[in-house]
Amino acid sequence: MAMYEQALIDTAKALVAPGKGVLAADESTGTIKKRLDSINVESTEATRQAYRNLLFTTEGAEQFISGVILFEETLFQNADDGTSFARLLADKGVIPGIKVDKGAKPLAGSPEEKVTEGLDGLRDRLGEYREAGARFAKWRAVIDIADDRPSDYCIHVNAHALARYAALCQEAGIVPIVEPEVLMDGANSIERCEAVTDRVLDRVFDELKTQRVLLEGMLLKPNMVIAGKQCPQQAGVEEVADATLRCLRRRVPAAVPGIVFLSGGQSDEVATAHLDAMNKRGPQPWVLSFSYGRALQAPALAAWRGEPDNIPAAQQAYYKRARNNGAAAEGRYSPDMEDAA
Ligand code: 13P
Repeated sequence: MAMYEQALIDTAKALVAPGKGVLAADESTGTIKKRLDSINVESTEATRQAYRNLLFTTEGAEQFISGVILFEETLFQNADDGTSFARLLADKGVIPGIKVDKGAKPLAGSPEEKVTEGLDGLRDRLGEYREAGARFAKWRAVIDIADDRPSDYCIHVNAHALARYAALCQEAGIVPIVEPEVLMDGANSIERCEAVTDRVLDRVFDELKTQRVLLEGMLLKPNMVIAGKQCPQQAGVEEVADATLRCLRRRVPAAVPGIVFLSGGQSDEVATAHLDAMNKRGPQPWVLSFSYGRALQAPALAAWRGEPDNIPAAQQAYYKRARNNGAAAEGRYSPDMEDAA
């Protein structure tokens, strides 16, 4: 790590440069199939390439997008013009990243919970990814809320794996995005989400410290503190902003340069409004920005529908989400921006 210390710090800072955030376009083969199914497009290597090409060639998006997380297939794919996607992005000043986990699998002894796999062989894979141009990575742990979940066991093994991943990334000169996602699918209250997120972050930073991860050379990708989707009592934007900030301020050391939220199933405009509300509350110890998947891509996917003629409309839709989230990353968003062309 010592060899890469300054490079890690510089890359982490660049990913949360003012008014910029990360595009998560790292859907695994299974997840991208679901997205393409939703617009009646068959998922093939060619349609996945066409869709990613559309996103990454959107002119001007680089004003708001500092980095893109890629799935392994995409990192080794070429754009329509024959350059590798990694090169195309880097030439625009957008940092290529790579999802390195192998997915969340049933946890032995508590099979309703999950543990994320992918540590075996990771050191070698990181070398190949860096060679291909990746300068940051992502690993997602999934924590589900139910009456008797999450268990301490589930939180512990996921936090331990996140820290092992982060330490290996830093050794390879790759900035780890540490993503412990507390899901918003349940019927739980916002208070329960806050309590669980607090427990998870506490444990994650404990493991990061034990495993000697350089906090200045990583980013945290957390969920916002929010009521579960099935909860009849949904919190408003201001309440989500207050609860999320309270939780993060208690648990995330100021040495971490940035926090880039996942959208996790929030609608695109709500995800933007939440980020904006947090940034309107004034300076925090870390930069607060986005690393959205669905909330950046949903309108573009719907506009595209697999038709070449729809590419300009799809790119316009993606540009608008990137621009509005860029504004929210500085607390400059207003809902009128949704009407402006
Ligand atoms: P969502 O913003 O759609 O949750 O995706 C972000 C991500 O990368 C989840 O791992």
